[in-house]
Amino acid sequence: DLGGYPHYMAKEIQEQPESVERIIRGRLDDRFGVARLDGLNLTPRELRGFSRVKILGCGSAYYVGQIGATMIEELARIPADAEAASEFRYRNPIIEADTLYIAVSQSGETIDTAFAVEEIKRKGGRVVGLVNVVGSTIARACDGGVYLHAGPEIAVASTKALTNMAVGFALIALSLGRVRDLSNADGQRIIDAIRALPGQIKSILDFEPEIAEHAKTVAAAKSLFFVGRVRGYPVAREGAQKFKEISYRHAEAYQTSELKHGPLALIDESLPTVAVVPSDELTGRNLAAVQQIKARGGAVLAVTHAGVDFGELDVPRIVVPKTEPELDPILLTIPLQLLAYHAALTLGYDIDKPRNLAKSVTVE
Ligand code: BG6
Repeated sequence: DLGGYPHYMAKEIQEQPESVERIIRGRLDDRFGVARLDGLNLTPRELRGFSRVKILGCGSAYYVGQIGATMIEELARIPADAEAASEFRYRNPIIEADTLYIAVSQSGETIDTAFAVEEIKRKGGRVVGLVNVVGSTIARACDGGVYLHAGPEIAVASTKALTNMAVGFALIALSLGRVRDLSNADGQRIIDAIRALPGQIKSILDFEPEIAEHAKTVAAAKSLFFVGRVRGYPVAREGAQKFKEISYRHAEAYQTSELKHGPLALIDESLPTVAVVPSDELTGRNLAAVQQIKARGGAVLAVTHAGVDFGELDVPRIVVPKTEPELDPILLTIPLQLLAYHAALTLGYDIDKPRNLAKSVTVE
């Protein structure tokens, strides 16, 4: 049921304030500044025993996994990284007893992710799921997990499930942090920020008409870059992924820091860049990169926060509300969903069922 929306993707984008409420509900503990995640089936001692976190997923779930890895490193100070499950399963991975493996999947049926889970289990590793569909193959195979409660997602391009994955990682990072060096006060700071997310997402969605205008401009280009640095890089990757999936435009993500090591050679009037420029400790470096792009004639659309001073630079902006720095990627991703949606709408493509793609890839 489209409920009056023209596409499932539009509906699912708009549902995000409520779907985020659902993943949070009953899971925030103000007294101890911690998340309550009983479904993980891990005691505090077990949680404390992990010295590494490895996140596995495919496509957008992999990119959100990278957002999650950064959150876990920042809040829990445990080495964490994400890898495409499709690669992991074929490369004879080293499974370590003190690594917490996290499988991320909307459908819970993606065959590459399911096989990665089996490989980990066969070698005695501990794997938990961050899955939307209750009772799905991956959810059942894992030793425990956190359900996303995003509700059914129909559009091939994932939106509300991804946002709940990112919030789910914030909850897991909080749990891992609070059995280590994250203080009660810092835990509370993150809890308060998580609680404010649904209202902030709503305020981003209110800017849809402006974002639609930006989408018309970027859709005119044959090819574009998405750039971000550290927390912003997986945001750029997911933004580019969504853009290419439904608008069929070549969209390539780079670390902002890598621009001068190669991709800058391609910048000219015909290649616009969507730059993620949050207000944080790296703002100055990101602004310098924007300046370098502009100096070569490249157009820039910035996804940024209020108060970031672009000075003389003529840069159109999508301004996103600020949350705690560790959680910024959750909100920075939202306007990029709308950018992709409106670019595809402008170009007249089949938004909910892009060519050559399936909602979940369940066969080899
Ligand atoms: C891909 C879909 O094949 O699978 C992507 O086209 C999706 O949209 C990815 O992100 C992973 O799917 P799931 O269900 O495991 O999250």
